[in-house]
Amino acid sequence: MAPRLALVAAMTACCLAPCLAAPTSDNYHRLLAKAQADPEGAFEEFARMHDKPYLGDEAEYGRRQAIFQENLAKIAAHNARNDVTFQLGLNAHADLTTDEFRQRYFGAKPQDLAALREAEEARLGREGRSKKGKPFPYGDEVPPERRDWQEEGKVTPVKDQHVGGAPCGCCYAFGGMSGVEAANTLYTGELTTLSEQEIVDCDELDYGCDGGDFSNVFEWVMRHGAVSDKDWPYKAQETSCSAKEHAMMHRDVVVTIDGFVNVPKHNETALMQAVSHTPTVVAVCCGDYLDQWHLYKSGIMGDSVQCTRPLDHSVLAVGYDTDQETGEQYWLIKNSWGASWGEGGFVRLKRNQTHRDGQAGLATFPGYAFKTSPNPSQMRRLGLPKGAGSLLSSAWEQVSLWLARS
Ligand SMILES: *[C@@H]1O[C@H](CO)[C@@H](O)[C@H](O)[C@H]1NC(C)=O
Ligand SMILES: *[C@@H]1O[C@H](CO)[C@@H](O)[C@H](O)[C@H]1NC(C)=O
Repeated sequence: MAPRLALVAAMTACCLAPCLAAPTSDNYHRLLAKAQADPEGAFEEFARMHDKPYLGDEAEYGRRQAIFQENLAKIAAHNARNDVTFQLGLNAHADLTTDEFRQRYFGAKPQDLAALREAEEARLGREGRSKKGKPFPYGDEVPPERRDWQEEGKVTPVKDQHVGGAPCGCCYAFGGMSGVEAANTLYTGELTTLSEQEIVDCDELDYGCDGGDFSNVFEWVMRHGAVSDKDWPYKAQETSCSAKEHAMMHRDVVVTIDGFVNVPKHNETALMQAVSHTPTVVAVCCGDYLDQWHLYKSGIMGDSVQCTRPLDHSVLAVGYDTDQETGEQYWLIKNSWGASWGEGGFVRLKRNQTHRDGQAGLATFPGYAFKTSPNPSQMRRLGLPKGAGSLLSSAWEQVSLWLARS
């Protein structure tokens, strides 16, 4: 009886308001099939699915429909090729040209993560820079054949940095925080999600919506801790940190980290050693491959072309494996473009490239955050007063250091 009641309830809801499909991978898949026979109907459903602002604007509707058709043709042509290892499909950005997608989310001049890193190395000297990160401890290990932190339930849900379609170049905040979330999950077993918006607003080491470096995010969180993204939700624009000063003083820090490690550069073996222990943040030149990333649906992206554009995006490497059918080696990468993009929000990139920077530059300078002491929130749960957490954490760090030395 219960399922039938649910069905009746669902049907009633559909009769009251037009029944809208949710923008999920399955529905995009269905739309793509529908588009073969009825491209106009598919576009209308797409526009309604996203409640696009041009639904009431005939001219703009027509323009977007034409771009949607072009994307459909591009998807069909790509997927019909037999020399490609990945497929394209529809997603929330299927009414944009790749150029528009680039302008909107990468800006005219995306910050080059490599240039930012070099400038800082010049300022601090390479030594100064590397002193901020702890030395890489896994260089002598033989990494396992495969690792999949997602399968092990150690990866927080995929986020969407394109919320509301607002342009904000803060992938570094999403990349950095995904690394902090991973460090926390490995330590506590909890899938706590954290605020990128606080980084955009308050992290003076980076540039808000104009880019930054994920390892600066690690540094900032080492100093200040991180709050929940429910407390400080993502707005896709810079809001004032000073207006939040009051809030800053009473911030409810839920997660702290104890350090970060810069994985040896230009070395996919070192990256495997790192990822076998923890999800690791990597910078990629996805703008170079935006034709592919824009409508990526599934499979392994890979060709041995080097980056010619800046490293303009940060993502989380959460595993690596070899495709059983094709024997192709790949990295499993968590993106921040929503769960209906790619393989449930993930993309696979070719591993073990002939070029030392790796596919899309992913081996250029990876890094990960780590945790060795409990969170303040864990302390509070134990009934300890505020502040006891950091005291206990530093005491614990002393004890671990002492244990490590003796
Ligand atoms: C890459 O890193 C591994 C260990 O992490 C090291 O043994 C190897 O020599 C490195 N390769 C290069 C080319 O530096
Ligand atoms: C890269 O591929 C070669 C050839 O298949 C293999 O011998 C080597 O072990 C691979 N290296 C890594 C780091 O997977």
